[in-house]
Amino acid sequence: MLDAWFTVPMEGYEASTYGDRIASVYDAWYEERLDPTSAVDFLAALASGGRALELGIGTGRVAIPLKLRGVEVHGIEASESMLQQLRAKPGGADIPVTVGDFTEIPVSGPFKLIYVPFTTFFALESQEHQLRCLRGVAEHLEPHGHFVMDAFVPDVTRFTDNQSTTTVETTLGHLLVDAVRHDPLTQTIEGHHVVVEDGSVTLYPLRVRYCWPSELDVMARMAGLALEQRFAWYDRSPFEANSKRHVSVYVNRGSSADQGSTP
Ligand SMILES: C[S@@+](CC[C@H](N)C(=O)[O-])C[C@H]1O[C@@H](n2cnc3c(N)ncnc32)[C@H](O)[C@@H]1O
Repeated sequence: MLDAWFTVPMEGYEASTYGDRIASVYDAWYEERLDPTSAVDFLAALASGGRALELGIGTGRVAIPLKLRGVEVHGIEASESMLQQLRAKPGGADIPVTVGDFTEIPVSGPFKLIYVPFTTFFALESQEHQLRCLRGVAEHLEPHGHFVMDAFVPDVTRFTDNQSTTTVETTLGHLLVDAVRHDPLTQTIEGHHVVVEDGSVTLYPLRVRYCWPSELDVMARMAGLALEQRFAWYDRSPFEANSKRHVSVYVNRGSSADQGSTP
């Protein structure tokens, strides 16, 4: 039945799955395409003089240059394979990382800055998980500390019959296709980066539960975090109606009395 086909999640997919499967190619795919310089400038200013925590620290793409700017950076990461990549890099082994699921923020706070780059917040599988994470973020932030995320702005027009296949790269002997399906009821996208190379096919599974900035703001507010600024990118370019991504900055309101109040 079609309804059931859409509601059954990718079986066996866990918090560590994405990282475990993509770790060996992650930096080759993203390190050049995603220059962290403006993110590091932005985050270093907010963390100044305090401790920072990255949720889903991965291979340290952002954390290592942030540490080089003098910020005490900690991390949470579900995938041991991603952590191996981080630890193999100069300075990577010195970053304290807790292996676990950032839905629960399993570390001791407080932090001046908690941040989650590259749409990683959407890795949390449901609205309930995302709200729980935001509550944990508020509990682990100093009063008036900041929470920063960057993410895509959902665009459901890219799906036809709730599916999409995008050819990302074609070279002689190499094809990268993103093949995903979409469940608009749970706001979930799941599928694979598919690499066809030298006659072999490799699947890199992914699943995200997306939300619009407006939903994020309400969830953040329920958790005791207030939107302070929103940009289209870390270079502070303005967030506009046609922006594809957003960088959102929330401040810990520092008073549980505010929590759950009307926005
Ligand atoms: C897209 S990568 C981003 C890595 C790094 N933050 C960056 O910007 O390059 C997402 C990372 O989050 C980790 N991750 C996903 N879900 C997680 C969860 N629930 N708890 C902890 N780590 C998670 C993945 O293993 C992966 O390393």
